[in-house]
Amino acid sequence: MNWNVYVTRLIPQPGIDLLKKHCKTVDINPDDRVLTRAELLRNVKGRDAVLCLLTDRIDDEVFAAAGPQCRIFANYAVGFNNVDVEAAKRRKVRVSNTPGVLTDATADMAWALLFAASRRIVESDKFMRTGRWAGWGPMQFLGQDITGRTLGVIGVGRIGANFALKSAGFRMKVLYSDMASSLELESKLGARKVPLDELLRESDFISVHVPLMPETTHLISRKQFEMMKPTAVLINTSRGPVVDEKALVEALRAGRIAAAGLDVYEEEPKAAPGLLELDNVVACPHTASATIETRTKMALMAAENLIAALEGREPPNAVA
Ligand code: DGY
Repeated sequence: MNWNVYVTRLIPQPGIDLLKKHCKTVDINPDDRVLTRAELLRNVKGRDAVLCLLTDRIDDEVFAAAGPQCRIFANYAVGFNNVDVEAAKRRKVRVSNTPGVLTDATADMAWALLFAASRRIVESDKFMRTGRWAGWGPMQFLGQDITGRTLGVIGVGRIGANFALKSAGFRMKVLYSDMASSLELESKLGARKVPLDELLRESDFISVHVPLMPETTHLISRKQFEMMKPTAVLINTSRGPVVDEKALVEALRAGRIAAAGLDVYEEEPKAAPGLLELDNVVACPHTASATIETRTKMALMAAENLIAALEGREPPNAVA
């Protein structure tokens, strides 16, 4: 109960309230921005636990700055590529994430991007708002049919599988690529597991749902864009570096693919030069999990993990 906890940025209040119920001191970064490295190192010092975000690089230097009394870094995200898990293990600091609660919101966002990019929604909206519409036209804003087309899902973990299952209403042919087979997708959708190259060649819509690891960095690069149909639409709600963003800009500019819907970027908050000038890109600021309900659940889950570690219990969502 004497615990002293640091939260690296304001999260929804129910998570803060839960922390305050169990901990004597809960200090929160007062500014709505990412802490600088120096601020992060200074603020974690002497804490019993830290609730951190995907925008904080948590590595050995941070664990050392926190000190040996620090029991857990509870990450407010399902992805934990921002945390050096091996260093945490060496230092015997626990690390947790927030799986499951953001699956629907993220899969929904992938669909929102797929629709927006394929039906040119953002481009049309801009056209309307700038007063350029002079009346209905048979050749205006022609996009892509969605119903009955081929959907390629790269990575069918929780989010990828959920995204694929949501295609049922659109009677799509579903291809997926993953190390493991998904009996659920095969039985419910008649989905077919195929090698990545085949998925890239055959799909009309390609949605990426893999975690960021050395093996998935630039999984989609120039060679992969060359395999795609010129009408293909690429969706990325996973992590930016999974797609080579410069190669994506080239592919979109050259008409090698039709469009992209993106929620994540290689060097957030920046986007590759030229990307945001392209009309065939729909870009969101890493908001796939940004619903009130989901972000509240993430806050509670991160707080529960943190409290469990402080109480000497196994954090329900430990990754180290
Ligand atoms: C995550 O949780 O990893 C998302 O990118 C943000 O919610």
